[in-house]
Amino acid sequence: MVGRTKFEKLLEPGYIGRVRTRNRIIKTASGTGLTEPDGTQGEAIKAYYESLARGGVGMIIEEFTVVEYPRGTRRMMGQSRIDDDKFIKGFSEVVKGVHRHGCPIFLQIMHAGPWYHQAEPPEALGERLSSSALTEAEFLRIGQHLPPHPIVPRETTLADIQEIIDRFGQAAERCQKAGFDGVEVNGSHHHLINCFFSPVWNKRHDQYGCDSLENRARFMCDIIREIKRRCGNDYPVTALFNAAELGEPKATTLEEGKRFGQLLQEAGADALQVRMAGYGLFSLNLLHADRLMHPELPRHFMIREFDWSRNGRGFQLPLAVALKEIATVPVILAGRLDAELGEEALREGKLDFVGMTRRLFADPEYPKKVAEKRLEDIAPCGGCLLCWHKRGLNEKLTCRINPALGNELAFEIKPAEKKKQVMIIGGGPAGMEAARVAALRGHKVVLFEKGHQLGGLMPLAAMVKDKECDLILDQVRYFKTQMSKLGVVTEIGKTAGESSISDIRPDVIVIASGGSPASLNIPGIESGNVVDSFKMHGKLKTALRFLGAKSLERFTKVWMPVGKKVLVIGGAIHGCQLAEFLVKRGKQVTIVDESEKLGEGLLSEDPVRLFPWFEQKKVVMMTGVRYEKITDRGLVVTTREGKTETLEAESIMIALPLTPNPDAAGLMEGKAREVYVIGDCRQAGFMHSAIMDGATVGHKI
Ligand SMILES: Cc1cc2nc3c(=O)[nH]c(=O)nc-3n(C[C@H](O)[C@H](O)[C@H](O)COP(=O)(O)O)c2cc1C
Ligand code: SF4
Repeated sequence: MVGRTKFEKLLEPGYIGRVRTRNRIIKTASGTGLTEPDGTQGEAIKAYYESLARGGVGMIIEEFTVVEYPRGTRRMMGQSRIDDDKFIKGFSEVVKGVHRHGCPIFLQIMHAGPWYHQAEPPEALGERLSSSALTEAEFLRIGQHLPPHPIVPRETTLADIQEIIDRFGQAAERCQKAGFDGVEVNGSHHHLINCFFSPVWNKRHDQYGCDSLENRARFMCDIIREIKRRCGNDYPVTALFNAAELGEPKATTLEEGKRFGQLLQEAGADALQVRMAGYGLFSLNLLHADRLMHPELPRHFMIREFDWSRNGRGFQLPLAVALKEIATVPVILAGRLDAELGEEALREGKLDFVGMTRRLFADPEYPKKVAEKRLEDIAPCGGCLLCWHKRGLNEKLTCRINPALGNELAFEIKPAEKKKQVMIIGGGPAGMEAARVAALRGHKVVLFEKGHQLGGLMPLAAMVKDKECDLILDQVRYFKTQMSKLGVVTEIGKTAGESSISDIRPDVIVIASGGSPASLNIPGIESGNVVDSFKMHGKLKTALRFLGAKSLERFTKVWMPVGKKVLVIGGAIHGCQLAEFLVKRGKQVTIVDESEKLGEGLLSEDPVRLFPWFEQKKVVMMTGVRYEKITDRGLVVTTREGKTETLEAESIMIALPLTPNPDAAGLMEGKAREVYVIGDCRQAGFMHSAIMDGATVGHKI
């Protein structure tokens, strides 16, 4: 294990070609949704990249940017583009902002090929390209996230190939003009370049065909050579490609990936960045395979390409290790790496650069804080993938723990003009974030929490969410540390009443006291076999206080205050996560909901794994029912067919979303000049919306 204060290798400068990086942490490319609708770079994206540079990262690779539009795009609107000279100016502003902090920056350039977002209108996208023509059935089998009748790609002709190589060359020249220190060619995933690498797509028999590894790699090698020809041999190019593919008999193997690495470096690549792509059983999000551990890692993922020894941290390390066997240029790897694991991998020679995306979303100052030995100040990424989910919806990036992500201009910490006395009622995520931001801006903050610990429902959520348990607890710890360092006075176990108000005489009162359990007015709701999340919280509160969420999570595997057969009322995210928790404790679970769909509120990556897992675990899932009454045998419902049925259960757990407390403000009316209601108390939502509310008020005061 690396000592927590020793990050010599990680903080050491490195070289990619002639470019000197400030340290070994590279911000790998990631779409932000901050590009202007017309594909240009504006103030928002500039502020985002500048914040990363300010945070001390070694080098930035700006997000995927298309060299051809619309044929090579994924999105019609808000797609970062470099297919025309008119885009140079905006990029040069981004580069200037990043260089101001001494940080090098590359641009990732790519051609989407057959890949596009299913929400885009086919008539606008026009034709799509792949290495070879496919039938619709073939495309539906190997493509990802496609509509029922997708635009089937046509074969790229030799003339197209030359044209596209030329477009990559032109794009790189524009990058050079904009001041980028280099470019990354993205040949990974199922984009056009990978359609040549992979015989799953490539059925050609010409010099770009599937008959040899050299032919499969030729397209990307030609692109690299063209960039070097136009921009100079010393203009750095990193090559991002799939070192392995999984799930199809002809998929690229790791041995083939190693040979591709050799060919790419011979063609002039100055660094190799590797990842994996999958089909069929493996067509899940392999970029964030750490998430596949929820609810349970599928057995077929236990293969040599993945390393699961650290709960998903560094899951792709075997790829980098394999590439290092042949690489004469640096190897970059991302995939749930962190400072500690990165340092260890660097010391062991497993890679040369530690790629990170989500940890830098959560805290762009991560590298700076590592360098300053302030690890306790790092806002921890929980791996929840809200950021990814938002991009899937084509919305701008949002991070659960960092509301400033994508809002860098609005949420810049500015000292308050008038320092105020701020009283915050409630120590959940909304209250803690409001306290943190207000204190950072110079206000004097007192936070009242009537329970015996900070975090609101976060410790309970940590216990229920199992593998995320540590991470939510890390997030609670982060808030506590920040509040304590910033001098926030926390009054734990105390209610903010008249006497505290007259003692403190607040200028501002922020009510963040949480939501209330939704009431279910059916006969029998008061029965002893019914447990709602608040009753549960009440029952577990003392245990949570003394044992902590982690120990309690283990303890509940031995004992739970519910019977063997449990019925969960409410099939939105809360109910689904509770059901997962119960199944893992050997309970027979039924989930019911009056709505037509289960899983409301689950992030996009989760239902595809969770519902099949429920089926495998024989969880009964019923939607469209009407709750009638609760008896000592269970819940009586009317089914959608109009039949009355008793769903038998020893225990009934209510997991309905909370309801807000809009009247809370009235209770504090006239007690301070400014009164705000935030978090679940204002509008019941999720942890990220509560934290966002806290930040908004913290900046407003
Ligand atoms: C919201 C989001 C957008 C991404 N967009 C890109 C992209 O544009 N190009 C790319 O090569 N990788 C993209 N990635 C993948 C990241 O570069 C990185 O490989 C991945 O997130 C794993 O690293 P991490 O565990 O440090 O987040 C994206 C990841 C996220 C979360
Ligand atoms: S949204 Fe979740 S996964 Fe994404 S960076 Fe933030 S905490 Fe991490």
